[in-house]
Amino acid sequence: AIAERGLRLGGRLHLQDETESTNDDAKRGAKDGEPHGALWVAESQRKGRGRQGRTWLSPRGENLLFSVLLRIPCSPVRVPPVSLACGLAVRDAVARAVGDDADVLVKWPNDVLVKRRSDGRMRKIAGILVESGLVGSRVDYVVVGIGINVHTKALPEEVAELATSVAIERGDRGLEGPPDRASILADVLAGLEHDVEHVAHRGLGLVHGRLSRSDALLGREVESDAGELRGTANGIDPEGRLVVRKDDGTIVRVISGEVRLKPL
Ligand code: BTN
Repeated sequence: AIAERGLRLGGRLHLQDETESTNDDAKRGAKDGEPHGALWVAESQRKGRGRQGRTWLSPRGENLLFSVLLRIPCSPVRVPPVSLACGLAVRDAVARAVGDDADVLVKWPNDVLVKRRSDGRMRKIAGILVESGLVGSRVDYVVVGIGINVHTKALPEEVAELATSVAIERGDRGLEGPPDRASILADVLAGLEHDVEHVAHRGLGLVHGRLSRSDALLGREVESDAGELRGTANGIDPEGRLVVRKDDGTIVRVISGEVRLKPL
């Protein structure tokens, strides 16, 4: 699927049945001179990692688990915008796979959520872990690790309200046939190829409108984990920060990764 579409990303492909974490493979590859666009895909991970030190569970055959090495020398201030552009690429690919462009959204900074037709609730379908390698004070490369729940048919009760999969959402929309992991992967790579270098060099400008249209938090009440910040999400600014209007009316701009916000 990657070769057919003539994509530059994924030109070098490392397919593994099992690994610790494809992000660790890609970071090692970066140090070993792997080229821009090198891709690591694994069927399962022993130590899948999520953001904020969380574990990413990777049941065999159910997820699409991969990491891409992007050699995009840039300023560290571009990493949050790049990370948002990656969220958008995953959003677009998932929207296509579930046949619904309206109800697949990016939750800042870069989770992808789907609004279930039958109950109107939003559930997480994909997560992204962006890690950058620095040389001095400049970013030398970025590793984008993506986990998409694809084939899972039923989720354990404790997460069924919080998570979903492409297969479940296709079923909810009455679509026939199982999802195709190869085309989802190729769609994500095509989206990254289209936007990421531009965003790394020029900032969010080009994708800001699309991002705003798929902002899951817009207008929602949010609160940081520690409870020190509470207010209404008021969009994403051109630097990739979440704009929060506090209850006393003051505006706070939250830097990606600094505070994790949960919708109330
Ligand atoms: C999150 O939602 O916290 C991010 C999850 C990122 C998971 C992916 S799976 C492929 C890659 N390898 C990892 O160890 N993590 C990312």
